[in-house]
Amino acid sequence: MRCLLLIPVAWVLTGCSVDFQGWGGMKQQPKALPYRESAFFADERAMRQPPVGTVPRDRRGKDRFLLTGKDAPDGGYVDSIPLTVTRELVESGGRSFDIYCATCHGVLGDGVSQVAKNMGLREPPSLVDMPPYPDGYYYDVITQGFGLMPAYAEKLTPEQRWAVVAYVRALQESQRARLEDVPPEARPQLEKGGPP
Ligand code: HEC
Repeated sequence: MRCLLLIPVAWVLTGCSVDFQGWGGMKQQPKALPYRESAFFADERAMRQPPVGTVPRDRRGKDRFLLTGKDAPDGGYVDSIPLTVTRELVESGGRSFDIYCATCHGVLGDGVSQVAKNMGLREPPSLVDMPPYPDGYYYDVITQGFGLMPAYAEKLTPEQRWAVVAYVRALQESQRARLEDVPPEARPQLEKGGPP
């Protein structure tokens, strides 16, 4: 008797695909799959464009300068970083830079890297002697990419991108700094040739 009772249990466990009422319908329901056609929409595409003016939820309430690096009225690049530049911000920018930029532009930003040596078509330039670009320009290059360089908007949040800009500024400054720019108490260390 017990053996007989086990039969329906085993039958369910082995995944017999008899269509109980409603189950088949759940497995095979009409749905839109990426890149498939759809009879529902007039243009027969399953993938839809968001309506004009749609703002992604994660951008709600955020400053437009912060998101685009551009000034509202004339569309020019913003001149300064729209976040408070603290030591933490620069250091976090340094961590992102080492992960995402140093591979091509070098850890010092001077364009010296193995990838640069192997990139035959156009080498990643040195970032420490660039023309006098505004901060927003760097942000825009990171966000949109530039020529052969990929965009980093997928990898870095707007705040992280600005942090990278702050770090690039620090790298540039480090190449131009004079002894007088260093706090007096740190100068003797530098004169000895060691890190402060
Ligand atoms: C895969 C290699 C690669 C990576 C990674 C990379 N870049 Fe670039 N970058 C390039 C190349 C190559 C160019 C020159 C592109 C061209 O001229 O087509 C460039 C150009 C630039 C420029 C100069 C734009 C100009 O007007 O001359 C800036 C600024 C820059 N990169 C910043 C960054 C920053 C910041 C990161 C990290 C978020 C980064 N890059 C990551 C390869 C890279």
